[in-house]
Amino acid sequence: MSDWVRVCDLDSLKPGELMDFDIDDKKILLVNIKNTIYATDRICTHAYADLSMGFLNEEEKSVTCPLHMSAFNLNDGRPLNLPAEEPLTVYKTKIDNNSVFILV
Ligand code: FES
Repeated sequence: MSDWVRVCDLDSLKPGELMDFDIDDKKILLVNIKNTIYATDRICTHAYADLSMGFLNEEEKSVTCPLHMSAFNLNDGRPLNLPAEEPLTVYKTKIDNNSVFILV
């Protein structure tokens, strides 16, 4: 069963910023691009790297892994280049009353 979980105030995740958030055993990456919030798993699918330490490309809507530089599409989680081959899990998000929620 999925539930909406409040993760932060929108004010604390500014446009162009990455944020990490843990829910139980899930490690989540949150990204704000022009006040659209994206949420994916935070650990790279290639090896163990934390994507909140990665590089955001706002035009491409992707985040690049800091370890071996695979980029992942934030809309659907698919890798855009090797060495990663498996997609990240993506989560629905919503903003309500200045609070950011994700569906997990
Ligand atoms: S750990 Fe992310 S591309 Fe290798």
